Amino acid sequence: MISLNVPAFVQHTKLIEWVADIAKLTQPKNIQWCDGSETEYQELIQLMIANGSMQALDPETHPNSYSVLSDPTDVARVEDRTFICSEKEEDAGTTNNWQAPEIMRKTLNGLFEGCMQGRTMYVVPFSMGPMGSHIAHIGIEITDSPYVAISMRKMTRMGKAVYDVLKTDETFIPCVHSVGMPLTEGMTDVAWPCNAEKYIVHYPKSREIWSFGSGYGGNALLGKKCFALRIASVMGREQGWLAEHMLILGITNPQGKKHYVAAAFPSACGKTNFAMLIPPKTYQGWKVETVGDDIAWIKPGQDGRLYAINPEAGFFGVAPGTNVKTNPNCMATLQKDVIYTNVAVTKTGQVWWEGLTKTAPQDLINWKGQPHQGTEKAAHPNSRFTVAADQCPSIDPDWDNPQGVPISAFIFGGRRADTVPLVSEAFDWVDGVYKAATMGSETTAAAAGQQGVVRRDPFAMLPFIGYNMADYFDHWLTLGQTTKIQADANNQQLPKIFNVNWFRRDEDGSFIWPGFGENMRVLEWIIARCEGTANATDTAIGRVPCYQDINWKGSDFSQVSFEKVTTQNPTQWQKELESHGVLFEKLGDRMPKVLKQHQQKLLKQFSQTETI
Ligand code: OXD
Ligand code: MN
Repeated sequence: MISLNVPAFVQHTKLIEWVADIAKLTQPKNIQWCDGSETEYQELIQLMIANGSMQALDPETHPNSYSVLSDPTDVARVEDRTFICSEKEEDAGTTNNWQAPEIMRKTLNGLFEGCMQGRTMYVVPFSMGPMGSHIAHIGIEITDSPYVAISMRKMTRMGKAVYDVLKTDETFIPCVHSVGMPLTEGMTDVAWPCNAEKYIVHYPKSREIWSFGSGYGGNALLGKKCFALRIASVMGREQGWLAEHMLILGITNPQGKKHYVAAAFPSACGKTNFAMLIPPKTYQGWKVETVGDDIAWIKPGQDGRLYAINPEAGFFGVAPGTNVKTNPNCMATLQKDVIYTNVAVTKTGQVWWEGLTKTAPQDLINWKGQPHQGTEKAAHPNSRFTVAADQCPSIDPDWDNPQGVPISAFIFGGRRADTVPLVSEAFDWVDGVYKAATMGSETTAAAAGQQGVVRRDPFAMLPFIGYNMADYFDHWLTLGQTTKIQADANNQQLPKIFNVNWFRRDEDGSFIWPGFGENMRVLEWIIARCEGTANATDTAIGRVPCYQDINWKGSDFSQVSFEKVTTQNPTQWQKELESHGVLFEKLGDRMPKVLKQHQQKLLKQFSQTETI
């Protein structure tokens, strides 16, 4: 039996027993209890460079930054291999893959038995959210991937201090991860070990996460999608809070008044860009600051407001399309201390991806490690950067505040070439929940599978809700009701809910709305609506601005183009509403009646309308 070698800073008996159990099952060569120190980080980097799985970049232009290339079959989240193993199938619902927990445990026991042979098992302690915050929670990830261990150090508050938090509250989420490639007698390692068979498994009852076979992103960095969304959504429902696929940003006007908004967009739809937005030049005195770019945990406060934290501590952002024009703050964040995965690298150690510059540099090695040629992508469309959030020039002074930041508005947005207008405001909470619940978006490279097809992605949470989606809608409705009572009692306002679409296309297929920094114009209108100072016109699908309600100073966006991004075509909307009905049918009996009635009401309105 392998020696546990428990360091003095680990004193939690249950945790030690659990680590011993996992070691017995997986049979690693040795165990490393991570302390989160810089020395440990550098040692792991050196180990990965020495074994050929990591390359150091040019230290002059990319200090302390590295490139890793994955196996070409392990490049994105695998939604069809992701399971919610609730006790009853109906509690996972029709949008999740389900397997009976006892059957899944048997399968996983078989796969995990001896799966870490010849490898080091890293025990990674992490906090999701500011250490010790009443909104934060602790997790421990056991992994046989040094890449995962160093990535977790960037993406979470990782290290020894976590064990101090466990002294007062012993609860932690156990996360077990293996690349699924034991190094048995005579086997040589590869640069990116993984297994063709993959399982990303969540047990909502015992709140455990088990991941086998992949080393990539959300499949392997278990604090992110698995814990902070799937398991946390279950915890949030039980405890009265929300775990959401949302960025959080702060907007300060020239008078110094600040609002925070939380915005949900599906994967690879520009959350990182929006979170780091730089307003157009004419917005003198305005400030946009970043709290988070992917996940928000939101709890009702005593004062009737909703407070949000970013449970993560880093950005795992999509590289392609990021450049000094689309996201200058992000490019500044990437000046140093970055781990790149699946981008292209020149022979002199410079990184490149599609959209970084107009043309690819000479002598480029693509993400498959081969000379870049012809029209093939040099960087994988889902290639990523992993970087600490506090390196971002626009980071909000309160991003690490354990109390969280108060939310004034929720924004939901999909990637839609037609139908959905640039922006609309919900009439009330139920209408807002309906809008979010029926959101559709064209699929992207963030998940394995077909791209560019419209799928319903409620709340941008389709792959991330850890329980029955109909119950999730109900949770939002209930939380709105209880928060409103508390808000009314405290003279506060429930956050307003908005729907946006930056992605409407012209007949020739080009995007009509310029997006990026120009989204500030929509954001200003949203904030003004929260303050009650902007006009809106009622339409069947919500309150919308007219051309003159938006601040166009310094913009040449014409009224004709505005009409193109805001028209509501009744034929398209009829089809859209019918497809909402298909989703509701799929969700079955647990679907909240109030949302079904809302759909019927809208459908009736559209069948009576000629043009809007
Ligand atoms: C992500 C995703 O990595 O949503 O954030 O896929
Ligand atoms: Mn995401």
